[in-house]
Amino acid sequence: MPHDTAEPNQFRKVDVKTALQYGQASGLAPLASWVQQFVTEAMIPEAPYTGGLATTMTLGNTDGFSKALEALSNTWIEGRQPIGEREGILCEEYTFMGGVSTARARGLNITPIKADHEGMLAYGKGGLADILENWDASTGQRPHLMYTVTIGQNPTGAIMGPKRRKEIYELCVKYDIIIIEDEPYWYLQYPSAMSGTHLETRSSTGSSFLDSLLPSYLAGDYQGRVVRLDTFSKTVAPGCRLGWLTAQPTLIERIQRITESSTAGPSGFVQSLIAELILGPDARDSKNSAKSSGWNNAGWCRWLEGLRGNYERRMNTMCDILDQGRDVISTPKRLRFPSSSTIDSWDIVEKTPAYRFNRPGAGMFVWIEVLYENHPLTAHFAPADLAAALWVLLTHKPYLVLVMPGAIFGPTVQIVKESGWKFFRLSFCADEDEVISRSTTGFINGVAAFWQMRDRDEVQALIDEAHAEDIEREMAAMSPGFC
Ligand SMILES: Cc1ncc(COP(=O)(O)O)c(C=O)c1O
Repeated sequence: MPHDTAEPNQFRKVDVKTALQYGQASGLAPLASWVQQFVTEAMIPEAPYTGGLATTMTLGNTDGFSKALEALSNTWIEGRQPIGEREGILCEEYTFMGGVSTARARGLNITPIKADHEGMLAYGKGGLADILENWDASTGQRPHLMYTVTIGQNPTGAIMGPKRRKEIYELCVKYDIIIIEDEPYWYLQYPSAMSGTHLETRSSTGSSFLDSLLPSYLAGDYQGRVVRLDTFSKTVAPGCRLGWLTAQPTLIERIQRITESSTAGPSGFVQSLIAELILGPDARDSKNSAKSSGWNNAGWCRWLEGLRGNYERRMNTMCDILDQGRDVISTPKRLRFPSSSTIDSWDIVEKTPAYRFNRPGAGMFVWIEVLYENHPLTAHFAPADLAAALWVLLTHKPYLVLVMPGAIFGPTVQIVKESGWKFFRLSFCADEDEVISRSTTGFINGVAAFWQMRDRDEVQALIDEAHAEDIEREMAAMSPGFC
């Protein structure tokens, strides 16, 4: 990147001198205008907005969500304001706690909605319609906001197809709810893991990669009630602290006012690096575009497709090994045969499923439900204690794996207590295939060894270790915003 350029057009000017100056809340002009063009012409061209979607740069999705909440909700303080003034937000049954913590800090009433492999349920017990129709006003106002991660949901890996999306959107129309769609994993949709129902083609975006992705809520947002969050955290690096927010223009204007009086625009250094990467030297040298080394839309999509391919391979590496470890040998029995028989004894082994999981259609995580009811000592320990024991055992030699306990992703105490202990979240994103193979093998061996344990004292010792002060502190320290 040059120190200085004479380029008079601010939409083409990418240089260190500009990057070092105070910038606009909307973002560095060349990058912000590329984002605007990419979103409206390539990513979501079908959005039914008369004047088009509007975008503004953020410091990533955590920042985008916090600003959207500031624009769209009032804070509530327990003990100072009547419960009837308390506003609320809906979210998935298990969700990314960074979002929940932000909403909780504003005093919002967090209301989880039952979810399955496609994410939030529209209908059925605990689904969106059920919760809204039977709203319990003693807990606060009926929520007017929804926080949702629809593609490669963190932690469950759920991926929402078009039919469910339409049902949820229509319920949001009926109950006047604004959808805040947080989609860091949208680009990581894995063709090999998607079921037929998901493979509905989009209107052509001009890129076969973008055409292969499920559409955003924005694509059908005929009422302007969707706010979408995108980030460079999962496509370039989390340390960029850079992303963007897409919504109707009125809201974008409010978000920019909030940015001016809080974070100010994102770092000029980072924005100019990303601008240089995507737009390249032709961003400032319009006469010499033949020299362009910028990625532009096509290169950006190639990069995303490459990332998707790598993560898909890692996901399959992990899931192939997990498939092998699902069933563990339980209750070995020796059958004795009469002495006249040519064989005098026979070992019978029964296989029991120790866990179940769905191969994620997108994202970075595998969500595993451990079936503690099938453990040989299930009658002697509370399932939550067995879960704590297994978690500790997995950290011991020779297994040496640290899995995220499901409880960390439970938005309410009730969910944590009722079912949080059933789940572990495994991540296949941050390591090479070889490390993923090694640690997933450690996981399945650890589970198998746990199922062989018959000595109650041995299991109790693991539970005691889990309850030891330092481990509880470590687990607590992981929870806020740990991705
Ligand atoms: C669902 C979800 N939203 C937001 C984030 C954080 O995004 P950012 O780094 O852009 O703030 C994460 C990180 O793991 C996430 O999983």
